[in-house]
Amino acid sequence: MSVLITEIGGLVTCDDPGPDGVGLRDHHAVVVEPSSDGPRVAWIGPAAKAPAADHRVSLGGACLLPGFVDSHTHLVFAGDRAAEFSARMAGRPYTGGGIATTVDATRAATDSELRAGLQQRLAEAHAQGTTTVEIKSGYGLDLASELRLLRLAREVTSETTFLGAHVVPPGLDRADYLALVTGPMLIAAAPLARWIDVFCEPASPHAFDAEEARAVLLAGRAAGLGLRVHGNQLAPGPGVALAVELGAASVDHCTYLSESDVEALGSAHTVATLLPGVEFSTRHPYPDARRLLAAGATIALASDCNPGTCFTSSMPFVIALAVRELRLTPAQAVVAATRGGATALQRRDIGRIAVGCRADFAVLDAPTIDHLAYRPGMPLVRGLRLPGWPGQARNNVRG
Ligand code: NIG
Ligand code: FE
Repeated sequence: MSVLITEIGGLVTCDDPGPDGVGLRDHHAVVVEPSSDGPRVAWIGPAAKAPAADHRVSLGGACLLPGFVDSHTHLVFAGDRAAEFSARMAGRPYTGGGIATTVDATRAATDSELRAGLQQRLAEAHAQGTTTVEIKSGYGLDLASELRLLRLAREVTSETTFLGAHVVPPGLDRADYLALVTGPMLIAAAPLARWIDVFCEPASPHAFDAEEARAVLLAGRAAGLGLRVHGNQLAPGPGVALAVELGAASVDHCTYLSESDVEALGSAHTVATLLPGVEFSTRHPYPDARRLLAAGATIALASDCNPGTCFTSSMPFVIALAVRELRLTPAQAVVAATRGGATALQRRDIGRIAVGCRADFAVLDAPTIDHLAYRPGMPLVRGLRLPGWPGQARNNVRG
């Protein structure tokens, strides 16, 4: 069943070689056709020249965007940490120590409780225009619990990340835990994960230093996993340099960067993934996105949705923060939240509206993308359900 999407107010392809990359087209239409793994974009062109199709969907003047690619989340967990958040708003610093609270609650939850929480968060993300999520483990921190989180994540996305090296579980010896994470736990987790991640943060007594993080990443690579790093979140540190040196797909947070970190990211393939919802929820300073762009770095925006440092999956909220606080233009922010996220996941089939790409769309009920930041908190974004494909609107987000 082919579908013609028409009366699009502004088509935002995020597939333009120009300076901001947003590729805004007026008076354009899009045709979607089936493929062996779901609907794909088959034609883009002036509405007046659109070919016939089995179905026609009118957007009534709304904008059509690529669905948001949220390349950094921790969506499988139990419990919440609202009290920790409130204490932080009153001045207590974030150290990563609260992760143990979520580990306890997560281990105590049943599969069906974890699955229900995951489904609820996916529905929230999708309602705000997200069509792909990466999901990390990291709230299990023993072999059976980490595998359980990866299995649950695999039920809803192919972008799963083994984060056994989130923190050293309280009471365990660091060296013993590292041996587990780089040995038996990794061997069991690798078939369930595409990526490995490590919280490289010497400023936290719970997380890992450069040498520990290197050991985790090298073991992950040897097990066939791609590399991601949580780096430079709480203080200047070695995470960015390590990620670039090892050719990680992405280094995430990048809140505290030295001049050499910025230079390194400017000439590397490693994407700098910025998570401004974390700075919002921890009262840390916002990362310097403009400096990264000026150096030539590729940036992505993601939510980091997790119960500790940022309990929202709203990409429109992240975009609004990026415009207000990171001083990105709306076009730069939208590209970072779509094509940037896809690049961080080394995917070319999502994050753009281009012939051959997956038909993962978000609809913005507003005349321009400026409204994403101009009208923060308003429910302007929705998914697009195509006739003929009942489950299509979620695509990679299978709920
Ligand atoms: O990305 N920094 C490490 N991990 C998460 C937070 C985890 C938590 O506090 O529960 C993050 O911010
Ligand atoms: Fe994170």
